[in-house]
Amino acid sequence: MDSVKKLLIDEQADIRTALAQLERTARGLLLLVDGDGRLKRTVTDGDLRRLLLSGANLDDRLSDLPACEPKTISDDASPEAALELMNRHRVDHIPQIDEAGRPSGLLLRRDLCSPILLSTPHLGSGERGFVDDAFRTNWIAPLGPNVDAFETELAAHVGIGHAAALSSGTAAIHLALDLLGVGPGDEVFCSTLTFVATANPILYQRATPIFIDSEPGTWNMSVPALQRALADADRRGRLPAAVIVVNLYGQSADMDPILEVCGRHGVPVVEDAAESLGATYRGKASGTLGKIGIYSFNGNKIITTSGGGMLVSDDGELVERARFLSTQGREPAPWYLHKRVAYNYRMSNILAGVGRGQLQVLEERVAARRRVLDRYREALADIKGLGWMPEADFGRSTRWLSVCVLDPDATDVTPADFIAALARQNIEARHVWNPMHRQPLFAGCAYFPHEEGCSFSDQAFQTGVCLPSGSSLEDSQIDRVSSVIRDALVHR
Ligand SMILES: Cc1ncc(COP(=O)(O)O)c(C=O)c1O
Repeated sequence: MDSVKKLLIDEQADIRTALAQLERTARGLLLLVDGDGRLKRTVTDGDLRRLLLSGANLDDRLSDLPACEPKTISDDASPEAALELMNRHRVDHIPQIDEAGRPSGLLLRRDLCSPILLSTPHLGSGERGFVDDAFRTNWIAPLGPNVDAFETELAAHVGIGHAAALSSGTAAIHLALDLLGVGPGDEVFCSTLTFVATANPILYQRATPIFIDSEPGTWNMSVPALQRALADADRRGRLPAAVIVVNLYGQSADMDPILEVCGRHGVPVVEDAAESLGATYRGKASGTLGKIGIYSFNGNKIITTSGGGMLVSDDGELVERARFLSTQGREPAPWYLHKRVAYNYRMSNILAGVGRGQLQVLEERVAARRRVLDRYREALADIKGLGWMPEADFGRSTRWLSVCVLDPDATDVTPADFIAALARQNIEARHVWNPMHRQPLFAGCAYFPHEEGCSFSDQAFQTGVCLPSGSSLEDSQIDRVSSVIRDALVHR
């Protein structure tokens, strides 16, 4: 959608003005409105040419144009309805009008036919070679040279001792809890502002989650809330078996104070870096600071294996044990021997080939995602009430997702309205994670807000929106999203 205001022209304007406006706006079309701003018809180059050929001159008024009932659509119609109308009338654009009949937007076929998605896979040039090797050598199994090499290369990239390639990030969290001995009756602290995949493995282990709020500076685990929760657990004589710290939307949590307070209580930290591969914290790679870290290579992540995960640690025995548990816990014996329940969680050698190729372009992907956010910020800097998830000064966020914030004191547009406005233009945006302590699945679980009576994660959910953020987005697509955002927040 173009910012529609610049396309409006009053029916009292003359043909010369219309031609100049057509030239300036370069859309090939204007929207002719009456004195009350109601749409009368569309005006194209061709309409004006015909008018001039029929004897009109440049000073004549546009009101001389023949009446022509415009094909319009209401401004809450779906992209599908708009395309259906365009097909029916064989046109490539449809003005949107509000209840009073005033133009509120212009839908273009070109835009509606090319959806802009939240975060899509972005392949490089190296993946195919590693995958072809797997086919050529018949390593089509959840083990093989690509799996071994992907583990070694990823560990080297993030600067950690050991890595185990797994079928998903969720599997990696599950194994991390298992490795730390989390079991029935245990409590596990967990960031509340996250995707459910962080917390589900706590339930797999029949343990009880206790949720910890985020803090405004990083949107990640609040140190004051964690301190209160640990003090409470200490008083109850029931320290958690682990703390799972999430690094949200590509940004590390403030790990030093978190590790310090957990270390003081002897509680191990699992770093859920599913969203933050490529980010840094005080010079170290995100995901390498806790006892165990995990990454995800789901299709929407900064690099992908279509589906996959990695468990990392400096403790080689733990990682070896993760490999053992991820391959059904088969004991080293001449026959099949199993002593404990285990899982089928290993990564396939084909997908590890995709991962190796993706790892080669990780730094480029980080730079591209950061550029996406910078371009939104620059294009929308003047819009009142629109803010952004902050970047903490202790390191680099990958800006896996560009997250904006609608200030309810400055705009009455809610995240739901905003997401719907983008969806009508075939642009995918999403709410910020709905915190875990709000999920019916975890009803009754304890929750520690950032400050007594002040829950930051609830505020982030109520005001935040994740925008299209993929590293393959073109500038023109980012500009289109920015233009729709401007229309949603300013030209309403
Ligand atoms: C914060 C977080 N943790 C865990 C996961 C789970 O990763 P996967 O989808 O690879 O299981 C995801 C993403 O899906 C995530 O965003």
